[in-house]
Amino acid sequence: MQIEHNFSLLPHNTFGMDVLADTIVSYDNAEELSELLRNGKQQLPLPLLHIGEGSNLLFMHDFPGTVFLSRIRELSVLEQGNGHVIVRVGAGWNMDRFIAYSLEHGWYGIENLSKIPGQVGASAVQNIGAYGVEAGDYIYAVNCVSLEDGTVRRFSHDECNFAYRHSIFKEEEYRGKYAVCSVEYRLDLAFKPQLNYGGIRQKLVAIGKEPDNLTAFELRDIVINIREEKLPDPHVLGNAGSFFMNPVVDRSVSKRLLLQYPDMPRYDVDGGHVKIPAAWLIEQSGWKGKSLGRVGVHVNQPLVLVNLGGATGTEIKILSDRIINDVFENFGIRISPEVNFI
Ligand code: EPU
Repeated sequence: MQIEHNFSLLPHNTFGMDVLADTIVSYDNAEELSELLRNGKQQLPLPLLHIGEGSNLLFMHDFPGTVFLSRIRELSVLEQGNGHVIVRVGAGWNMDRFIAYSLEHGWYGIENLSKIPGQVGASAVQNIGAYGVEAGDYIYAVNCVSLEDGTVRRFSHDECNFAYRHSIFKEEEYRGKYAVCSVEYRLDLAFKPQLNYGGIRQKLVAIGKEPDNLTAFELRDIVINIREEKLPDPHVLGNAGSFFMNPVVDRSVSKRLLLQYPDMPRYDVDGGHVKIPAAWLIEQSGWKGKSLGRVGVHVNQPLVLVNLGGATGTEIKILSDRIINDVFENFGIRISPEVNFI
């Protein structure tokens, strides 16, 4: 375990915000984290904040409390057979490295999540999703330590309340209260490609590949290729992926809008609700590719706000508020940020 003070968070957030944390704790296993929280918590400045690779947050100013970083890199197979494997992965693993490792070992299911920035721990908190797959579909259990009193708690899949970009760890009662120490993924031993997302199908046609003889590595390459075409590389242009969530609206709202915009893209969620791409709402509101000083709306995917260089959290927030207002004025739909403001 390492405890440092006045620590720059610049390498720990993909938006590239140059802010300081009063204290930072990097720990290597759940036991030492639990011990620190049980017996040494009084030395730590508050508030407490656990981060992963900082790919889904926006620092608005220096952080006066304690930031926790997981360096837990264990990986063990808990069970294998009947077409499945259950693997326990340390929360500090980079998610994409875990996906690559899984494919090398013949474990399948999460290849469509390739190259999503962030750690395994955050994959459970955010229920990350892309190209028709959500992490929660493959998460068997999540092992945590309470940041309040250091006790250990295991959440089963059902207790996690996974939904679109949602888990119990984002709910009022649990938010910011637990450090995820490891995630148990239940993966398939047979490769069943998930090709429902239109962009993947189009790529298959473009490269003349039949779905029947597609390998998991080829699917991973296709996904990475689509991401690289649409999403900015945070090493080049600071960003936190999708800044907004896709709004889920009442079917009556969608019906009303379709009268005016017959080509509006939309996806059925259930009998009464429809999801509308925020990217489309933002583009129709004239923001695609636009900038406001040192911040901008990405030209290939308007869901992504970018730091054009040296921007502050406040500048991003001003842009975000303007977009939210314009979308609301044009469509009567209030889009919400997916990114956490700190
Ligand atoms: N669209 C536009 N203009 C654009 C881009 C997209 O109108 O410039 C419309 C199109 O109708 C398109 C639709 O938006 O069909 C959906 O676009 P896309 O397939 O790029 O996906 P998304 O709904 O905008 C979500 C996730 C992404 C994920 C993709 C692919 C959220 C908030 N975002 O975006 O996740 O990669 O689907 O599955 O759900 C992330 O979380 O950081 C992220 C990038």
